[in-house]
Amino acid sequence: MIRKCLFPAAGYGTRFLPATKAMPKEMLPVMAKPLIQYGVEEAVEAGMDTMAIITGRGKRAIEDHFDISYELEHQIKGTSKEYLLQEIRDLIGRCTFTYTRQIEMRGLGDAILKGRVLIGEEPFAVVLADDLCTNPEGAGILEQMRKIYEKYRCSIVAVQEVPEKQVHKYGIVAGKAIDERLTMVEMMVEKPSAEEAPSNLAIIGRYILTPDIFELIEKTEPGKGGEIQITDALMAQAQKGMVIAYRFEGRRFDCGSIDGFVEATNYFYHRNREE
Ligand code: G1P
Repeated sequence: MIRKCLFPAAGYGTRFLPATKAMPKEMLPVMAKPLIQYGVEEAVEAGMDTMAIITGRGKRAIEDHFDISYELEHQIKGTSKEYLLQEIRDLIGRCTFTYTRQIEMRGLGDAILKGRVLIGEEPFAVVLADDLCTNPEGAGILEQMRKIYEKYRCSIVAVQEVPEKQVHKYGIVAGKAIDERLTMVEMMVEKPSAEEAPSNLAIIGRYILTPDIFELIEKTEPGKGGEIQITDALMAQAQKGMVIAYRFEGRRFDCGSIDGFVEATNYFYHRNREE
């Protein structure tokens, strides 16, 4: 069983300045829902009930969001707007939220390592909330990955093919095909140039990790950008045949960029109107 989901949410969100000057980027809304809430809903759908959030300075709004606001509850009770709080109330009732701070920004690997106190010795999921994932046809991306984990019992990374000129933005994987959707990873490179890239299969912000990853991160030297990269720590697992890349079913919006964010907004706007 995978019960816990880690949300690295300490980053500054510089691409969204000035909006993110005093507000966490994870709280940017697509329609009326903050990005991180989409991620929590996806984790709950996959059967997880403990959300471990790695925060930093200026991220208090995330904690307040996943809490009861008594003043607001009092104001809205019995009015026509009360239903707007129902979804988030249900979510708060169904899961536990735990927090720890990443003091220095030393990379995604380091952020995940900071979550060790919240995760312990069990497999867990990781959601990067600015990758907004949805599958209107069926199960969410994490639920799809959970099923693959149950079968293979190793780390799973969600991947999608990207154009060659975009490989420098992602962790890129290559390996042996197991079937149409699954690849046994043999090679992983963080943000390679188009020439260095072993393929165009890019990791997107969904992972299931086995807990030995924490020790591997501890042994990982700073890599790309002088930061501790989760991709490098995962390469140590991949060398033992313990990482599978999964081409997920559904869509992913890069809400860390203005283009992806606007695309997601348009997509959910039209989808909600059709429902
Ligand atoms: C991180 C990871 C990268 C991955 C990406 C997915 O990069 O380091 O391997 O492909 O997330 O969104 P970031 O976008 O935080 O620079």
